[in-house]
Amino acid sequence: MKVETFQLERWMTTWELNVTHDITESGVSPLSITELLTLSDVTNDQEYIDTLLSSPQLYSEARGTEELRTSIANTYASVGSDDVLVTTGAIEANYLVFNVLLNHGDHVVVTTPCYQQLVSIPKAIGCEVAEWRVTPESGFSFDLDALESLVTDRTKLIVINSPHNPTGALLRHSYLERIAEIADRVGAWVLSDEAYRWIEHPGGEPLPPPFRDLYPRSISIGTMSKFFGLPGLRLGWLAGTAELAAQCWRHRDYTSLSPAWLSDRLARLAVDNRQRIQQRNDGILAENLATARTWFADNSDIVAWKEPKAGLLAMMDVIGVDNTDDLSERLAADAGVMLAPGSTFGLPGYLRIGIGQRPTIFAEALERTSDFIRTSRQY
Ligand SMILES: Cc1ncc(COP(=O)(O)O)c(C=O)c1O
Repeated sequence: MKVETFQLERWMTTWELNVTHDITESGVSPLSITELLTLSDVTNDQEYIDTLLSSPQLYSEARGTEELRTSIANTYASVGSDDVLVTTGAIEANYLVFNVLLNHGDHVVVTTPCYQQLVSIPKAIGCEVAEWRVTPESGFSFDLDALESLVTDRTKLIVINSPHNPTGALLRHSYLERIAEIADRVGAWVLSDEAYRWIEHPGGEPLPPPFRDLYPRSISIGTMSKFFGLPGLRLGWLAGTAELAAQCWRHRDYTSLSPAWLSDRLARLAVDNRQRIQQRNDGILAENLATARTWFADNSDIVAWKEPKAGLLAMMDVIGVDNTDDLSERLAADAGVMLAPGSTFGLPGYLRIGIGQRPTIFAEALERTSDFIRTSRQY
């Protein structure tokens, strides 16, 4: 299978280790293992720590341990541990589902702009891809009539992502129900990439249930990388039917075989202590949202955004700039601020901003950004 270059990931790897102020990252500021153990109240549980440190680093249970799959399954209303496959990040879960469900020539509808994998892998498989677009003209919102007009009797799969990367748009409960009706009418599967699940904004809209709990021919995708702030574990999952999970497992024998032993244990700790992590996130998001609102209001002559409804990401419109490629390079190289160029999402006049960074760095990064844009405009 030949794949297109993954534009965003290429850009991120160029800069992420070379900047001081990364405010384009898509997860909540990462936790250390010490922070995770402290949040989970196990630092004084000597037996737990001893087992963690003294266990041989074997190949771990290939599907993910029964304990982790049970903890994950318990976050859904209608999922059992056999319906879950633990994967190397959400990226592997998506990859497996595409490879198991899709064949050359299949008709697929994909929400765009998107995390590029979601559109590039179906294309690489040779599918006919119709794009369900979330546009600036719609105020970055989902248009269900447009989705309905794209779905045909031949549609095999509908790919959705909410809260949405990169716009922060949200599919409410009634929208998800309508998507289930549209899919059911033609017998299509729905892959719901829920990488930003649980990331509600303090005082904002509550998130609807996962799609897996609403529609039987569906797969919900999850990850430790965003809400949990643990991207370094490289651990995600898919929750589907037991049969689909087993098919994906068979495919996985050829990709990553099994989750890392340590990641599996630490992921279980994080999932079981989700409420504590929620409290940490609420603090970060409340502060960053307040900072961002003030900053956008103070700088409305040079930047604008549609505030995200949930999740961590939004597109920042740089007023008067048609293509931010050069600006994003100079911001990273000269000001140490990382804001990914919108061209990586087909929105060249924008920069992608993430609101999960530590609040002091987030506030400094915004000041540096406005100073940099103003200074460069004087020339
Ligand atoms: C929508 C979406 N899906 C999947 C991924 C991959 O995440 P992971 O780190 O779990 O592989 C990302 C990462 O940014 C994402 O935004």
